[in-house]
Amino acid sequence: AEKFTVQSFRAAKAAQRPISMLTAYDYTTACLLDEAGVDSVLIGDSLGMVMLGYENTLRVTMDEMIHHTRAVARGSRNALLIGDMPFLSYHISVEEAVRNAGRFIQEGGAEAVKLEGGAAVVDKVRAIVKAQIPVLGHLGLTPQSLNVFGGFKVQGKDVEAARRLLDDALLLQDAGAFGIVLECVPDALAGLLRRRLEIPTIGIGAGADCDGQVLVVQDMLGLFRRMRPKFVKAYAELGDAAVSAVQEYIREMAEGRFPAEEHTFHMDPKLLEQL
Ligand code: KIV
Ligand code: NA
Repeated sequence: AEKFTVQSFRAAKAAQRPISMLTAYDYTTACLLDEAGVDSVLIGDSLGMVMLGYENTLRVTMDEMIHHTRAVARGSRNALLIGDMPFLSYHISVEEAVRNAGRFIQEGGAEAVKLEGGAAVVDKVRAIVKAQIPVLGHLGLTPQSLNVFGGFKVQGKDVEAARRLLDDALLLQDAGAFGIVLECVPDALAGLLRRRLEIPTIGIGAGADCDGQVLVVQDMLGLFRRMRPKFVKAYAELGDAAVSAVQEYIREMAEGRFPAEEHTFHMDPKLLEQL
């Protein structure tokens, strides 16, 4: 496999070749995704929910994101690595936004960053891009706005909201974003955005008419059992497999069948007579 870059992102859209993206938060998973040949890996702030057990993404800190970005970077060779900027890391000022985006690159080993929002963040996007850090946008259901939305709902369903989404997308493109994640928007609106934008759209709950798709790896592997949104397809049920494996371990151990001969080290028992 070849190294996937932000240039590959643009080329993929031009060639109408779908872009694959998955999240990862640790070295082991990063190695598996790399072996499978995924185009891009997002160290998502979904980290907070699926790895750290927070109720939502709002408690995730820069230090937590950097810690996990470093782990993923050690296991990734070919995928484009994108660090997800957490709540409050790009909201206060342009300066803080650039500083924090830079930490993902300099400390984390990421190659790009993602942040949520449209008009409200274009000044930050422009400044981060100016600092030579590629930015992926994120519109639609932006989980860091949970308290404003009043819950997780599909976005852009009326004309006004759809127009705002289109305007936001064009602003992000104009500010230099190399792509935009569309989360939980109707498929027809996602399709329109795809055609109006020169940069790729990456959908999650945005239907099939996108330039690429992203899923949370714990969701698509069936590892996260607290909830499973409609847009998730579980390509494996590793959660079930893990529970069965642990139960079998407990049973075999209790029955004296584990460890067996092949798992056991030996020495000459006579040596122990000297003790
Ligand atoms: O944090 C995350 O995993 C994300 C993706 C779902 C796009 O933002
Ligand atoms: Na996120």
